[in-house]
Amino acid sequence: MNLIVTLPGEALPQEYFDVRFEVLRKPLGSPRGSELLNDDDKAIHAYIAHGDKIISVGRVALIAGDGSVKDPVGSNCPAFEPLREGIKTVLTDDKGEPFASRLRPAIQVRQMGTLPKFQGKGYAAKVLAALEESAKQNWNARTGWLQARLAAISFYEKCGWTAYGEEYDVNKVGPHRSMWKKL
Ligand SMILES: CC(C)(COP(=O)(O)OP(=O)(O)OC[C@H]1O[C@@H](n2cnc3c(N)ncnc32)[C@H](O)[C@@H]1OP(=O)(O)O)[C@@H](O)C(=O)NCCC(=O)NCCS
Repeated sequence: MNLIVTLPGEALPQEYFDVRFEVLRKPLGSPRGSELLNDDDKAIHAYIAHGDKIISVGRVALIAGDGSVKDPVGSNCPAFEPLREGIKTVLTDDKGEPFASRLRPAIQVRQMGTLPKFQGKGYAAKVLAALEESAKQNWNARTGWLQARLAAISFYEKCGWTAYGEEYDVNKVGPHRSMWKKL
């Protein structure tokens, strides 16, 4: 098993995007090409190769604004409210003080997927840990944010992430909850 991390602008094998498509887009009926995100060249990517086959993938990128995005599949993801300037955040530190001023640099995890045959064996947890570590080292990231499909919430919780706020629907993908982690 080989864990590979690539920094922004570094080349990625086509198979990395094939896994994304198979696991995250094809099941939604989305067309080929929808697995490519506009800012993939600005992201840190991690993937696991098992022999000559890629089996688990994920990416992380810096959040410049509030994290709201429009995807190639036409889905709108809402903002991460605590990252909005001036918002009275519900997030507090160990002493109960508001944490908002210390949330950045903030990163967003996206496009986590493991081929079905290889799920439940700890591969995505390794990919996610590598992404968090690389974001801390390269960007001094302080907090992580993501929008989790309901079925994936338990996975992220096992990796130390916390869900917050109400459930919401992401067009063409389904119900989600936002999650965050202090890195
Ligand atoms: C979510 C996903 C990436 C997890 O990948 P994975 O390689 O199976 O995850 P891991 O094996 O590393 O899981 C780590 C831990 O979380 C648990 N876990 C993983 N998926 C889980 C789930 N759906 N429900 C409950 N627990 C889960 C594992 O059992 C493991 O627990 P353990 O440490 O006690 O053994 C994978 O199920 C997947 O690709 N799903 C489809 C695409 C998707 O929904 N991606 C996320 C979009 S937000």
